[in-house]
Amino acid sequence: THQWRGIIEEYRDRLPVTDTTPVVTLREGGTPLVPAQVLSERLGCEVHLKVEGANPTGSFKDRGMTMAITKAKEEGAQAVICASTGNTSASAAAYAVRAGMVCAVLVPRGKIALGKMGQALVYGSKILQVDGNFDDCLNLARSLSENYPVALVNSVNPFRIEGQKTASFEIVDALGDAPDIHVLPVGNAGNITAYWKGYKEYAADSVSSRTPRMWGFQASGSAPIVRGEVVKDPSTIATAIRIGNPASWQHALAARDESGGFIDEVTDREILRAYKLLASQEGVFVEPASAASVAGLLKAAEQGKVDKGQKIVCTVTGNGLKDPDWAVAGAPQPVTVPVDAAAAAERLGLA
Ligand code: F0G
Repeated sequence: THQWRGIIEEYRDRLPVTDTTPVVTLREGGTPLVPAQVLSERLGCEVHLKVEGANPTGSFKDRGMTMAITKAKEEGAQAVICASTGNTSASAAAYAVRAGMVCAVLVPRGKIALGKMGQALVYGSKILQVDGNFDDCLNLARSLSENYPVALVNSVNPFRIEGQKTASFEIVDALGDAPDIHVLPVGNAGNITAYWKGYKEYAADSVSSRTPRMWGFQASGSAPIVRGEVVKDPSTIATAIRIGNPASWQHALAARDESGGFIDEVTDREILRAYKLLASQEGVFVEPASAASVAGLLKAAEQGKVDKGQKIVCTVTGNGLKDPDWAVAGAPQPVTVPVDAAAAAERLGLA
């Protein structure tokens, strides 16, 4: 008789809301922390996956969006806008529906996964495909929000970070303490900022005894933080993190340095290998960008950076169904059979 109420109700005392705040929720959060059996065995560690694809619109963005749209509603906004590589727009569009608001989204033309475009469309948002990359879209969205009556709900909105920090709370609540290492993909760098804030708050209040080292991974073709300079023309198959000038760059560096962690890059090949491993060995189907966390962990292990016996959490940020092209690409075509048990059994190698 008790269901998860969404992150604002579950963590109300740790979020900037009052009794009169009009909570806009799809009961996001409360996502599974799944023990990764094959990864744990391979690394001699206790590895867990925080499966954020289980959120209402299929990504971690819902944690931030319930807060951002709730606060926009509280402040009387009637329209919201975001730039997106696809997940933020899907989430903003859904929460805007719940709030009775208009949602405008700016996406880089030809560079967002079909499932995400489908979400923005079916939720009824106003979509503009911009002839540019995500960074151009974000500049445009900022400018529109400064000059027109429309609230910006990208992760430069501090309420987004507040909502997303609850993932750290859930992990500590589930494990009984913070892990040794937390690994996640980095794009615009809002999420690593949010997780670090959450871990620090729990440690400051002695809910946890420590904070984890934060390990972030960018895609090699879109790795401005690793390179230490803006990437003008970012590229990667992981379109969700195809970002050349992250808005929360400085916060990501702070999370890295304060936690004693690092930010490195993984190639598209490494991302796809981890993507396939997660689905075929762990039973967890994520989108390519999400696999960057696990690809990074495997790379770090090969470099001897992972001591045995560590407790490690990898956030897998988005659902695999959003971008199934990479699951289908290169896979053998399913065999066709007549309606015949003997033929089916033979093809399945049962006979
Ligand atoms: N993984 C997925 C699936 C994402 O969609 C994103 C960001 C990230 C990781 C990186 O998170 O930006 O906080 O460092 N997607 C944004 C969007 C940019 O528009 O949906 P970050």
